Amino acid sequence: MANLHRLHDFGTELLGATGCTFVLDGSWLSRTKYFITCDPANINHVFNANFHTFPKGPDFSEMFDILGDGIFNADDESWRSQRRKAQLLMVQPRFRAYVKRCCREKVENGLLPLLRRISEEGRTVDLQDVFLRLTFDITCNLVFGVDPVSLSPEFPTVPFAKAMDDAMVAILHRNIMPPSCWKLMRRFMLGRERSLANAWIVIDQFVQENIAKSKGRFISDGGDDLLSAYIQDSAATVNSSDKFLRDMTVNMMLAGRDTTGSALSWFFYLLCKNPRVEAKVLDEVRKPKETTAKGKELVYLHAALCESLRLYPPVPFESKEVATAEKMPSGEMVEPGMHILFSIYSMARMEGYGEKIASSSCRRGG
Ligand code: HEM
Repeated sequence: MANLHRLHDFGTELLGATGCTFVLDGSWLSRTKYFITCDPANINHVFNANFHTFPKGPDFSEMFDILGDGIFNADDESWRSQRRKAQLLMVQPRFRAYVKRCCREKVENGLLPLLRRISEEGRTVDLQDVFLRLTFDITCNLVFGVDPVSLSPEFPTVPFAKAMDDAMVAILHRNIMPPSCWKLMRRFMLGRERSLANAWIVIDQFVQENIAKSKGRFISDGGDDLLSAYIQDSAATVNSSDKFLRDMTVNMMLAGRDTTGSALSWFFYLLCKNPRVEAKVLDEVRKPKETTAKGKELVYLHAALCESLRLYPPVPFESKEVATAEKMPSGEMVEPGMHILFSIYSMARMEGYGEKIASSSCRRGG
């Protein structure tokens, strides 16, 4: 508990000292046993080679109950069909052009004028707040086809955005607390559980209104956004219920907003800490446009973004459940019901993890 404020670094120290994997008997918190790992061989085993034999499991979907039956909570056939549908709709040229248009317009007409104004006034600004507003507006536009204009000089409180934040904070607490404890708090609507319940109402209200609007619009003129695409698609194939559309949109809002907002915040933080890299990025961006088939190739900027994602992954850990007993590539046995926690944050900090698969040695690096 004393290391809660530096949970990921603390986890990295433990994983470094234990050779990238250890088992935590959670019996004093719950009956669950945790298999905690940042070993790339284990991650490859679960996420690539045996994806379907390691489900997210019922405990995960109960913890993220606000996401309903959406893709993040789904396993097996439900996951497969949702993934197929999302991929199919997201690769459509019409949707891709819409993504490009929304991002460009928001940056040109929202972000840049705002930053210029703040700079001229000599004000200080919380860049993470700015980026989360940017990604909230863009994701809302992509998912619902509406712009809540949270990115504006007044920094308004948008109830839907606040509800998403409150819900995520409450779920973070669920991750840390013993399950029996937060379940009791949920039952009696106490503390964070009360704020989650209130946030849930606000989220559902916003989503319902937009589903109704989108369905109304579809009759006259279907939009380019994801919700319209799902409604259009379901009119042609299987009819999607409002519950399905609600779960899909809430999952997509969560998927798109915090991840990109966090990635941008860490990227600019690291640029500030590394002026040499900042100068190189600026140099590359300012170079005249090259006339290659792919247009201007921002190789250095791309690498800097990847490095920032490696050091500060917006999804720092993931979890799965064990369905059948088996031996993991790192040598330990896992049993049904065990939870596997993968630390992506720690994996990026292990020295020479590339050689790990070959040599089975793993040390913590800086
Ligand atoms: C920097 C930005 C992003 C990062 C770091 C990120 C990271 C991730 C990670 C780690 C997963 C879990 C993968 C797994 O468990 O197999 C995931 C899943 C997913 N992401 Fe993202 N994501 C980002 C942006 C987005 C955006 C913008 C969208 C679209 C709105 C999106 C949609 C999804 C969806 C639908 C899934 C579920 C896929 C599945 O279960 O098959 N993500 N993302």
